Amino acid sequence: MALKIAVLPGDGIGQEIVREALKVLDVLNQHFDLNAEWEEAHIGGAGYDAEGDPLPESTLKLARESDAVLLGAVGGPKWEALDKPLRPEAGLLRIRSELGLFANYRPTKVHDQLLDASTLKPEVIQGVDILVVRELVSGIYFGQPRGIEELENGEKRGYNTLAYKTSEIERIARKAFEAARLRNNRVCSVDKANVLEATEYWREVVIDLHKREYSDVALSHMYVDNAAMQLIRNPGQFDVIVTTNMFGDILSDEASMLTGSIGMLPSASLGETHGMYEPIHGSAPDIAGEDKANPLATILSVAMMLRYSLDRADLAEKVEQAVGKTLEDGVRTVDLAGADEDFVLCSGMGDAVCQRLQGFA
Ligand code: IPM
Ligand code: MG
Repeated sequence: MALKIAVLPGDGIGQEIVREALKVLDVLNQHFDLNAEWEEAHIGGAGYDAEGDPLPESTLKLARESDAVLLGAVGGPKWEALDKPLRPEAGLLRIRSELGLFANYRPTKVHDQLLDASTLKPEVIQGVDILVVRELVSGIYFGQPRGIEELENGEKRGYNTLAYKTSEIERIARKAFEAARLRNNRVCSVDKANVLEATEYWREVVIDLHKREYSDVALSHMYVDNAAMQLIRNPGQFDVIVTTNMFGDILSDEASMLTGSIGMLPSASLGETHGMYEPIHGSAPDIAGEDKANPLATILSVAMMLRYSLDRADLAEKVEQAVGKTLEDGVRTVDLAGADEDFVLCSGMGDAVCQRLQGFA
């Protein structure tokens, strides 16, 4: 039976990068033994425009019934003035929450071919291989109460709640320890335990779980401000980083620049039953429709999908090898190219990867 993929391109460059990722799936269908079919649906601003909802019921249903979800990006100035629940980002947060995707894996691997693309010195980033494990369905993104209220004196006040329950911390920490065992066996838990009770408790639960079940893994702790600094100073010290929803959002954008471009970082969001795959970057409305975006983060997200949801680690490796070969051959999108280097368009990069992938068949 064919594997079913829900494809949600979303907004802005989401459309272009997902198109290239689908080319890769086409090659796998035609030249390898993948048997996948997909159906597209709206999410984000596209969902609002088509059906008045950033996560239409039909999209959620399709996602629930699929073996995996492939997502582009959401958001754009066009929808910024809408009421909060109607904004594109609300659709993304809701699908994460509805599908129970509590564990977000964001691998940052520095390709030797791109050592010169980063703003950091080659000797600082060479060999960097970090996995950020971000909690995705709780924390300050979802905590209640939240809102913007008017005070008695007429002044307004915006507020959010940062809260984590034992079970929520344990399940994400468990994923981080399990991942570390398959890598370099080190976990750094990032918090702000010196100031915020919610993360003081986070640290306590991580330490407790480590003692009970994962004492074979080397565990360290870092305050988030220090972690942000260490990521730039000496990123090679990290293996797995486990952290809260918001800290993970911020640190993964920072970590992406070690690879030369935010356009390189894929992600997998997993729960008990479903998996969703998306690049970590946004919809880049400033370059949308210009065929300029870097599709590699989305293509690498397809590789993660093959590995974690479709049980095809063999094909995941082929896709990753094809990306590596493409970079080795000097093919660059504009975000990766040096000032005097030639570059290809988004579609050109997709074609270049497909060509090499086909060569491995
Ligand atoms: C991400 C994005 C989202 C987030 C936005 C678009 C809501 O920045 O996936 O990192 O904050 O989680
Ligand atoms: Mg982000």
